[in-house]
Amino acid sequence: CLCNWGFFEIVNHGLPYDLLDNVEKMTKEHYKKSMEQKFNDMLKSKGLENLEREVEDVDWESTFYLRHLPQSNLHDIPDMSDEYRTAMKDFAKRLENLAEDLLDLLCENLGLEKGYLKKVFHGTKGPTFGTKVSNYPSCPKPEMIKGLRAHTDAGGIILLFQDDKVSGLQLLKDGDWIDVPPLNHSIVINLGDQLEVITNGKYKSVMHRVVTQEEGNRMSIASFYNPGSDAEIAPASSLAGKESEYPSFVFDDYMKLYAGVKFQPKEP
Ligand code: OGA
Ligand code: NI
Repeated sequence: CLCNWGFFEIVNHGLPYDLLDNVEKMTKEHYKKSMEQKFNDMLKSKGLENLEREVEDVDWESTFYLRHLPQSNLHDIPDMSDEYRTAMKDFAKRLENLAEDLLDLLCENLGLEKGYLKKVFHGTKGPTFGTKVSNYPSCPKPEMIKGLRAHTDAGGIILLFQDDKVSGLQLLKDGDWIDVPPLNHSIVINLGDQLEVITNGKYKSVMHRVVTQEEGNRMSIASFYNPGSDAEIAPASSLAGKESEYPSFVFDDYMKLYAGVKFQPKEP
């Protein structure tokens, strides 16, 4: 159950398979055309071409970010074809709707009134919604460096569309790293720190990471449906009982703190 995994995977989500196929194909083409050279330059400038010892302060990933809410930056991103932009816009809108449906399903599971989470996330400016487009190129010595070091996600609900063939994502469950292998056309969902706080720990924000592979370039697209910057986050009173185990704060203040501690061990 969600309460002990913090992750689940959806197959009948309603996003058209041809849209997903297109997004994956264009993301891989975009990497080759516009990102690969930059990634290789980064390896060179950081002295990572030979990987003679374990590297713990860099991730073996190539990324760029799209923002959708409160305001889209899709037209400010250089080097995207019109076709790719249009597909990403459609993809993001559908994931935004899916995220909002999922928040209401969480409310139902938690015994919170419908719309409760959406309202908390709204603050005064509406939710923030963005997409991180990642490629994890094949790596000659996977044991020396992670694709993305272990972390929890700071925000609300995360919707991940991952490569249909190349694996790499792992989640931490009872002290073991468990693979989340590719499942074509599925969307992997996990919950961020804000939902752990609001549910007073009923749902957990689980540690996860990406390992590198010697064979194959992995693509992944993570979309983060987060509270607005001034949203007030606190355990829901019906879930908090007498004592809540979590503090209350403004989302933006949390994010400022998170930036400095992302890759450190999870703290209460
Ligand atoms: C992240 C993340 C996983 C992946 O960006 O926070 O966990 O598979 N990504 O790219
Ligand atoms: Ni993450």
